[in-house]
Amino acid sequence: MPLREAPGDLPALQPSPGRPFGLYVHVPFCFIRCGYCDFNTYTPAELGGVNPDAWLQALGTELELAAARLGGPSVSTVFVGGGTPSLLGGERLARLLGMVRDHFVLAPDAEITTEANPESAWPDFFSATRTAGYTRVSLGMQSVSPRVLGVLDRIHTPNRSAAAAREALAEGFEHVSLDLIYGTPGESDDDLLRSVDTAVDTGVDHVSAYALVVEEGTALARRVRRGELAAPDDDVLAHRYELVDARLSDAGMSWYEVSNWSRPGGECRHNVGYWNGGQWWGAGPGAHGYVGATRWWNVKHPNAYAELLAGGTLPVSGFEQLDSDALHTEEVLLKTRLRQGLPLDRLGDAERQRAQTAVADGLLVSEGERLVLTPRGRLLADGVVRTLLG
Ligand SMILES: C[S@@+](CC[C@H](N)C(=O)[O-])C[C@H]1O[C@@H](n2cnc3c(N)ncnc32)[C@H](O)[C@@H]1O
Ligand code: SF4
Repeated sequence: MPLREAPGDLPALQPSPGRPFGLYVHVPFCFIRCGYCDFNTYTPAELGGVNPDAWLQALGTELELAAARLGGPSVSTVFVGGGTPSLLGGERLARLLGMVRDHFVLAPDAEITTEANPESAWPDFFSATRTAGYTRVSLGMQSVSPRVLGVLDRIHTPNRSAAAAREALAEGFEHVSLDLIYGTPGESDDDLLRSVDTAVDTGVDHVSAYALVVEEGTALARRVRRGELAAPDDDVLAHRYELVDARLSDAGMSWYEVSNWSRPGGECRHNVGYWNGGQWWGAGPGAHGYVGATRWWNVKHPNAYAELLAGGTLPVSGFEQLDSDALHTEEVLLKTRLRQGLPLDRLGDAERQRAQTAVADGLLVSEGERLVLTPRGRLLADGVVRTLLG
C-alpha cells in the first residue's frame, strides 16, 4: 500500500545541520508495572490487539515515514528505551536495528543503546544485541536491598542486576550503565552504599542515580497517601545524593549531569544530545521528537499507534513550535545541569546579575566563560534554574 500522511499532522521539518541527530525508539511493554513508574508502558493484560511483532511492523512504517520527512540526516546516536526493550528478546532487537539501518545512515561511530531489565536480559540476549551492532546497554538495577526492591515492586533478585552487568561486559559491551534509585521508604544509608559499591564492582563505566519521585497516579502515590509508606524526605534525599556522589567519585567516576556519572569516555552521548541542543526523532507510542524548533509527540496507546501507521499515517498526536523565549528557557534548564556548565554568553544582562547572586550564595561557580553548579548547587539545581530565569 502506498504510504500516505494525514495533512497537517506535522509541519515541514528542517534539521539544523550543526546539531547532532539522534533516534529514540520507545518500547511500550513491561511484564508488570513497578509501583513508582508512570512511563508510557503496558503489561500484557492491559493490551488488546498489539503484540511485539505487530508493534515492530508499525515501527518499521514510522521509521520509513520519518526518513522520508527528514531527508536523511546522519544519525549519531540510537537509544531504544522503554518500557522494557529486553522483553522483545535479542532477535527482535536485532531486527529493529536492521530496520533503522534500512531507512537511516548511521555514523560509523554511532552509539547504539538499548535499555534492559535484569530479569529479561541474559548472556544470549547480550550476545545477540552486541552482534547486531548495539554498543551500549543500560540496566535498571535500582538497589541490591531486598527490602527496597520489594517496596519498588521489582521482580528481579538482588544479585541479578550485577550479574547481568557482568554478562554484558563479558559479551563485549564496552559501555554498560546501571540505574539506581535512592530515597525509597525504608532504605538505609547502608542499603544505598552497598548498592553503589555493587554497581562499581561490576566494572561498568556509567551509573545513573535518581531520587525516587512519587508520581501522581501511581500505586506508590496511593500507598503514600494512605499512610502505608512515608514520602521521601528532602533532607534524606540530599544526604543520599552526597553519599552516591562521594562513593562514585572515589571509584573514579565523575558527574557529567546532575544524575549521571561516568568513567572518561563513558558518557551517554544520546542523552548529552538531549541536554546540549541536539535533535532527534522519537519513534514509538508516546515518544517525543525535536527537530529544528519543532517538538512533537506521538499518540500514547500502542493500539492507536499501530492503527494509524497501518493506514500510512504518522502517529503524531500534537506538536509545538518553540519561540525564542521557550528555546532560551529550555537551554538554561538543561545546560545548567551539565558539568560543562552554561555558557555565560547565553544569558541576558538581568540573568547575569542573578547568576552573580547564585555565585555569591555558593550555588554556582564561574569556570572561564561558563557557570557550573557547585556541590550544593547540584542539590538545589531546580531552584538555581528558577533564580537564573527570574
Ligand atoms: C523508565 S525506566 C526503563 C528501564 C527499565 N524498564 C527498568 O525499569 O529497569 C528508566 C529508569 O527510570 C528510573 N525511574 C523510573 N521511574 C522513576 C521514579 N518514579 N523515580 C525515580 N526514578 C525513576 C529508574 O531508575 C529506571 O531504571
Ligand atoms: S520501571 Fe521499568 S520495568 Fe518498571 S514499569 Fe517502569 S519501565 Fe517497566
